[in-house]
Amino acid sequence: MATAARTLLSRTLQSTARQAFPKPTLRRNLATFNTTSTRTTAQPLRRARQTRFQSTEAAPKKGGNGLLLGALAVAVLGGGGYAYTSGALDAYLVDPEEAKKPKTGKGWIPSFKDYQDVYNDIAAILEDNDYDDGSYAPVLVRLGWHASGTYDKETKTGGSNGATMRFEPEAGHGANAGLVVARDILEKIRQKHPWITYSDLWTLAAVCAIQEMGGPIIPWRPGRTDKDVAACTPDGRLPDASKEHKHIREIFYRMGFNDQEIVALLGAHAIGRCHPDRSGFDGPWTFSPTYFTNSFYKILLETKWIYKKWKGPVQFVDQESGSLMMLPTDMALVKDKEFRKHVERYAADEKTFFDEFAAAFGKLLELGVPFEKDESFRFKRTTDDE
Ligand code: HEM
Repeated sequence: MATAARTLLSRTLQSTARQAFPKPTLRRNLATFNTTSTRTTAQPLRRARQTRFQSTEAAPKKGGNGLLLGALAVAVLGGGGYAYTSGALDAYLVDPEEAKKPKTGKGWIPSFKDYQDVYNDIAAILEDNDYDDGSYAPVLVRLGWHASGTYDKETKTGGSNGATMRFEPEAGHGANAGLVVARDILEKIRQKHPWITYSDLWTLAAVCAIQEMGGPIIPWRPGRTDKDVAACTPDGRLPDASKEHKHIREIFYRMGFNDQEIVALLGAHAIGRCHPDRSGFDGPWTFSPTYFTNSFYKILLETKWIYKKWKGPVQFVDQESGSLMMLPTDMALVKDKEFRKHVERYAADEKTFFDEFAAAFGKLLELGVPFEKDESFRFKRTTDDE
């Protein structure tokens, strides 16, 4: 192994534990709590790679290999041009002459590589040790979900097409509190890639965040357009965490989801946390809030939950450590028989969860979008790079 590579590996391995549980309380609690996913500790190398590419350093250049593959591809195919594709290798199928042209103006069509570049730039800014649990990834997932979850299948209004949360009526909706953090960091990416629409950018960022946290590959298509303030949806389309089964079904059936898809989507609560100054609720759902795993379901089933004694809204904490939480809507997933059977399936088999989450989340991000192309991109994780 080359010295530089060895040094890098050693540096990343040393920081893995710190990155995995950036908050001392989370690290400490892991030692006394046995129901969390074992993947976090069982796959240090993968996490090390993830850490490396989530660092504040610029994402690694594709370098010689990329150029070589590009040249080969061009030679073999007689010029790649615009490639709607799902193969990771095809990221490089860009005609060098095309690449020199300015990325703007009539007739210019972004290639898969242009979108992968956006993906890589988002991946490079995810980590920030001064923010929450050390990563913006969870709040980017929440932005993508809240931008899309306003969809109403009857009136065909709302959804990710439009990025109307840029405007005050929708930005100010209670459910969207705190999402300004996500919109602001993506603004930096938009300045570098001004050709991408906000609605494509926000959904792509959610895909990037999930993949870079070790989650499944989520098929993604470009083609959303930004709308103006008139397209803002009325308040109340997103779920209220203090409610239960009936409300959850009303909200998600309105978007066009079934029970299985609802349970799959809620597995995203494996990542991130509640903030008292945003939703009023407090705490993370898992001990590994920056890693996408099936641990939400395991913890939900295996833990003894008690009401949190505090002046805030009704929520649950784990009896053993008092540091994990569940919302009333989360608890509804184990109380309701139909929901519970999927919770059990996902707790028992992470691959099934990943497959069904990827399908449901991809669907969520596409609700109400009039795409012209059927084929989806599958972005390459920066963590799979070595
Ligand atoms: C019944 C449905 C849902 C309810 C009631 C709900 C409620 C909440 C609440 C109250 C928070 C805390 C916000 C804060 O204080 O910062 C939150 C965070 C979060 N939610 Fe949900 N959620 C639901 C569904 C979903 C879905 C479908 C996804 C994605 C597929 C999702 C992803 C997230 C993520 C990633 C966070 C963490 C954000 C962060 O750490 O900043 N949620 N959710």
